[in-house]
Amino acid sequence: MAAKIIDGKALAARIRGELAVEAKKLHERGYQPGLAVVLVGEDPGSQIYVRNKTKALAEAGYRCFDHHLPATTSETQLLDLVRTLCADRAVDGVLVQVPLPPHIDSKCILLSIDPAKDVDGFHPENLGRLLIGEPRFIACTPYGIMKLIEEAGTPVRGASAVVVGRSNIVGKPVAVLLTAADATVTICHSKTKDLPGVIGTADILVAAIGRAEMIRGAWIKPGATVIDVGMNRLPSGKLVGDVEFAAAVERAGAITPVPGGVGPMTIAMLLANTLESARRRADGQP
Ligand code: GUN
Repeated sequence: MAAKIIDGKALAARIRGELAVEAKKLHERGYQPGLAVVLVGEDPGSQIYVRNKTKALAEAGYRCFDHHLPATTSETQLLDLVRTLCADRAVDGVLVQVPLPPHIDSKCILLSIDPAKDVDGFHPENLGRLLIGEPRFIACTPYGIMKLIEEAGTPVRGASAVVVGRSNIVGKPVAVLLTAADATVTICHSKTKDLPGVIGTADILVAAIGRAEMIRGAWIKPGATVIDVGMNRLPSGKLVGDVEFAAAVERAGAITPVPGGVGPMTIAMLLANTLESARRRADGQP
């Protein structure tokens, strides 16, 4: 039987609608949630991401502080802007779109963001807090993945979960979240021996490797929940995930499509983190 398709677009729209209601209540108390979005240079992919983020912010009734800087901006100028935004009481979150131009040290910029306004959840302090089970901001993609698993109705406690990919912003944090939710988690990567064998044990599979359709449908455990984080453009122009969807959909119990799965959830969770930050400001917390 074909898998249930987990509709990330519909779920994200629902969450964004709920957040808009909450944002309005906060605004009525005098605290309109506000996010500063900083884009340096003209990378076309980043421009699309930023446009989608600013549109979603406006639709949910948030303030958006949009800063588009030229590619020639120096690291010092960018650091100055980030510091100014972090000190601004009207700004609840500061997001610097990556990748940055090569003459700017991204790590240095990331570290300069106040962890209390790091709604991306990329700052080492926020990643560390997640690791010790006291999260402040959960990085948006892993946060969205957990919501998609919940939406699929998949029990996590005691489940065998396999995460393919070990990046600091997806693979590692999602493994921590699944562990905190009582799954037994295996992290796989390019040096894993017998990847098909390990994947075959997964009740929950999270694919975040960035290689088009590398995970074959035949490797998937029948009935598994499959979350595909991949966004790969084929030479034909078609957008595909890290999982061979056409075959996987015949074996899995539930699966996210690409596009329309994880992607839309990332923006919804960015709005969730920004609202959370605004609530803390409204409640007088640092
Ligand atoms: N570039 C691609 N995705 C993201 C994201 O979620 N946050 C930031 N800051 N940059 C990105």
